[in-house]
Amino acid sequence: MPDLGLGASGLVLAGLGRLAGALDPSASVLVTDAELRRLYGSELPPCPLVEVPRGEAAKDLAVLEGLYAELARLGLDRGGTIAAVGGGSVSDLAGFAAATWLRGVDFCVAPTTLLAMVDAALGGKNGIDFGGRKNLVGTFRMPRLVLCDVGLLPSLPDLEFASGMAEAIKHGVIEGGEHFEFLESECRSRASLDRPRLERLVGLSQALKLGIVARDPRESGERRLLNLGHTIGHAVESATGLPHGHAVAAGLASAFRLAGRRGGGRRAAAGAERVSSLLGSWGLPASLEEARLAALSRNAPSETLSELPAFRAAVAAALVSDKKRSAGEIRFALPRAVGEVLVEAIPLAELEAFVKEAP
Ligand SMILES: NC(=O)c1ccc[n+]([C@@H]2O[C@H](COP(=O)([O-])OP(=O)(O)OC[C@H]3O[C@@H](n4cnc5c(N)ncnc54)[C@H](O)[C@@H]3O)[C@@H](O)[C@H]2O)c1
Repeated sequence: MPDLGLGASGLVLAGLGRLAGALDPSASVLVTDAELRRLYGSELPPCPLVEVPRGEAAKDLAVLEGLYAELARLGLDRGGTIAAVGGGSVSDLAGFAAATWLRGVDFCVAPTTLLAMVDAALGGKNGIDFGGRKNLVGTFRMPRLVLCDVGLLPSLPDLEFASGMAEAIKHGVIEGGEHFEFLESECRSRASLDRPRLERLVGLSQALKLGIVARDPRESGERRLLNLGHTIGHAVESATGLPHGHAVAAGLASAFRLAGRRGGGRRAAAGAERVSSLLGSWGLPASLEEARLAALSRNAPSETLSELPAFRAAVAAALVSDKKRSAGEIRFALPRAVGEVLVEAIPLAELEAFVKEAP
């Protein structure tokens, strides 16, 4: 494992029981949601616990305000610790609170979703949504400890598990080689993922992400590769409300098609085919149209979702507010092939035109 930049404890593969040894109950606050408290509350140390809404609804200014109020009521001081027990929504919120409370207190995280184990709990990025835009307010706060236990995953619903697979597939595309081949050959369904395979899947993602983060913690270069699938993915998420990874899946497949149009030729086309096939095995959308249909099956029909052109226009409009935009261009992680991703500045107008007509 590379130098993780996580401090003395770093990433530990152990169950929730290990939290007790890492936290002083008189100076720590746990943050989790009601479902996780119901499932795993008995395994948590006897610290004060703040419950936040489930899923993306946790990443909200009013929820953050409520969390600050609880930290004030509990008197969490500068020597205290905030520990997130949950998926990426809980850790994004709690990490932001840890980075800002009293100008920063200690932070630990026990990820409970596949997505958080392979991605969100690692690397120190945190934040909340604002004005309907993803992660608009946030900062970096490396956790002192990431406590990872794949034994928490059997209770995770299939939809959420597949969401994590999208980020794992993204990592496989960035690294290529045996990493992607392992995903293709041994990770096609949940039933195929016995514990050793699941641990390998999570370990491959963690090694890739933590290696990149150690080399570029503040995202000034290489770390931008990890945004693969996220430029269009975040726009799809805003327009559909699909779980994060499902929107990223559509963004990832679209990015391959864009690479094809920008001279990627046969290699980009072959990559697009392999990735779409793998995404399809997990029921993940591999195009904007599949994302629209997936959202339609989950949400009430709306003007945005009912017709493809209106949906494409909504995704294009959401792209305009991308954080990575600067001077009319977006730094876009473009997959030329599996194992070959480059970051290129692409004019916003080109991206808008692409999502309005992409297959
Ligand atoms: N900070 C980062 O680097 C980073 C990276 C990727 C994604 N994210 C963010 O992560 C968020 C998505 O997080 P997520 O996919 O982990 O899901 P989530 O945190 O939104 O949780 C989804 C649902 O799963 C439930 N759940 C969690 N663990 C469970 C378990 N073990 N058993 C049963 N139910 C469980 C939760 O109660 C919730 O209802 C998005 O907001 C995304 O932007 C952040």
